[in-house]
This record gives sequence, structure tokens and C-alpha cells, in this order.
Amino acid sequence: MISIILPTYNEKENLEELFQRIDNGVESREYEIVLVDDESPDGTAEKARKLADDYPVGVFVREENHGLSQSVIKGIKYAQGDKLVVMDSDLQHPPEKIPELVDLVNSNDVVIGTRFKGGGEVNHWGLSRNFISRGASIIANFVMWNYDLSDPMSGFFALKKDSVNAVEMDAEGFKILLEILHRNELEVKEVEYTFGRRSEGKSSLGLAPIVDYIEQIGKIILDKAGFKQSKRIINLMEFMAVGGTGVLVNSAIFLGAIYYSLHYSIAGALAFLGALQWNFFWNREITFDKSNRSFQHQYFYFTLVNLGGFVIYEALLFALIGGLNLWAPLANVLAIFGGFMWNFFGSEQIAFK
Ligand code: GDD
Ligand code: MN
Repeated sequence: MISIILPTYNEKENLEELFQRIDNGVESREYEIVLVDDESPDGTAEKARKLADDYPVGVFVREENHGLSQSVIKGIKYAQGDKLVVMDSDLQHPPEKIPELVDLVNSNDVVIGTRFKGGGEVNHWGLSRNFISRGASIIANFVMWNYDLSDPMSGFFALKKDSVNAVEMDAEGFKILLEILHRNELEVKEVEYTFGRRSEGKSSLGLAPIVDYIEQIGKIILDKAGFKQSKRIINLMEFMAVGGTGVLVNSAIFLGAIYYSLHYSIAGALAFLGALQWNFFWNREITFDKSNRSFQHQYFYFTLVNLGGFVIYEALLFALIGGLNLWAPLANVLAIFGGFMWNFFGSEQIAFK
């Protein structure tokens, strides 16, 4: 049996045509649809349940940890078929291609629909979107040197259920195909198709997916280099980068305040508070998961942790210079490092856990 995994977010208006075209597309093959919805406000799940009278559809609604990759992983876990198809639900992936994909899943573990080979094409994307997509593909190919992929970002592919271990895929990567290929040594085949135009609803590409993508690539590189806690190392580097820009914010505020003849102690306090807001915002946006706790929790504990970091910094200065008589510039760097590590682990384990 074929299991067709459909992640959905606000795709209500596309479902009827999608199901119908899938039903025609698979011809006489036995199949099921595994629809994984992330609580779409437009009522996608309700609509899908209605259509389940006419089509073999299982509807799963996920109430937490929303996201495309996570939804696909869930779908893979629920799937009953021996062959799985993963595709978008907005009709940009033509259901008519399903037979070609699944029929090749015998001699291959994974069959990937590609937009960038032979007959495959994308013809309506703007320049910037095209550029981002191409750039991302080049990077992916560079990292996944053990595969030869013309469209590594593809979200349209078929695979043998046995060839992947869904339980192990909990560590979510942004592009699920890359994650699957990275975690398993697989035989791959490509099939050309034309990426359709989105008719209903709207595609999502903001800052978050770009950050997620860079994180995933970084993680794959570190994995391949043999590191054990790749995700954590990436987070630490992000935390450092944010902290670095925070120093600039701190300096700007400090100099501004001095310029307006404020006492340096006041200037320092303002600079500290300003940089704290900056660091909170960007670490929440980039380094950590912003949806796992309430904003208030994250904000309150991040502030608390950072105040703690400041106390640790001062205490280390006191101990290293006052106590051990260490050379002040060296003591300062060590104290910064101590406060920094405290801030990182405190943010990770308390504020954003
Ligand atoms: N469950 C769930 N949760 N589904 C989601 C979510 C989410 O958070 N976000 C998007 N989806 C669903 C959409 O409803 C759609 O069926 C599919 O995932 C793809 O989302 P789009 O927003 O249409 O993505 P796109 O057209 O920009 O991206 C396409 O191109 C990428 C390559 O650049 C997709 O085909 C991706 O799969 C592909 O990797
Ligand atoms: Mn789309």
C-alpha cells in the first residue's frame, strides 16, 4: 500500500481538488492519505474529515511543536503503507506524478521529484526566491557530498518505509529530505516534474526558515565531523554571535549616554539593559525555540539569568584580581567567559527549556 503524507497548514480550499487528483493519479494502486495538520485556523482538518467519507483519509491534528518537518515525521510514523509519498498539499506537487515515483521505489530507497533537471522546471518564481532556492541547493549539495542531487530542497519524494527509522528522526531538521538522507545511507533516484503555481492560500518564507536551514546545514557538518552534540554547539555559536552584536549595542548606548553627560554608572546600567533587550529578542528569534514557553516566562528568566551572569562576572573579577592577583586584562576575559557560559546554560536550561 502507498501512504501519501500531506502536511497541511491552511489548505482547506485545496483539499477537494487535491484528493480527487490523488485518487485519479494513483490509478488502481491501493493507497491511504495521512493528513497531518497543525491546527490550521481555516478549518482544514474539519474539511478533511468530511472528505474522509469519500476518500481513504486519516486526519491527525498536532497541538504542539508546530512545523512542517515535525508534521512529516509524524506522518511517517502513522503511515501503514510500505511505500510512502511526501508532498505539499497546495497542488504545487502534481499528484499525477505519484505512480512514477512509487513505481521506482523498489530498486531505490528514495525517489525524489526534482524541479531542476531535464523536464523539471520552475517558471514563475521571482528573482530573489529563485536565488535563495538555488543558493540553498548549492550549499546542501556541498554538504551532502555523498549524494548527487539536483533538487536537495525538494519536498516531493517517495520512499521505502523500511529504509528510514522514524523514531530516530525526532531531532527535527528543517528540510526533512536532507535529514532523511543524512541519517541513512540510501539509494536515490530522481524524477522530473514541474512545480505548479500556488492557487489558494499563501507560501511561507520569512526569516525563520532561513535560520532553520542554516542551523540544519551546520548540524549536518558537525555530525559528519563526528561531534556528538551538534545542535548544542550550533546554539552556542548563535548565542555567541548574538552576544557579540549585543556588545555593539551596549557600546552605542553607553557612548550616547555619556554624550548626553550622564554619569558613567548610569550610562553603564542603560547600556546593560538595552543590550539585554537586544540579546533576548535575537536569542529568542534565532538561538532558542520561542514557542516552547510563554513570552513572559522566557523574558523573566532570561533577565534573571543575565543578572546572575553579571554577578558571576563581578565575583570572578573580585576573586581573580583581588584574590589571586591575576593580570587584570586576563582576569577580565576569564570573568567574561564565566558569565557568558552561565548565561548560555541558564538561558538554555531555564529560560528557554
Ligand atoms: N503541518 C504543517 N505545519 N504543514 C505546513 C506547515 C506547518 O507548520 N507549514 C507549511 N505546511 C504545509 C503547507 O500547507 C503545504 O502543504 C506544504 O507544507 C508546503 O508549504 P508552502 O508554504 O506551500 O511551502 P513552499 O511552497 O514555500 O515550499 C516548497 O518548496 C520547498 C523547496 O524550496 C515546499 O514544496 C517544500 O516542501 C519544499 O521543500
Ligand atoms: Mn507551496
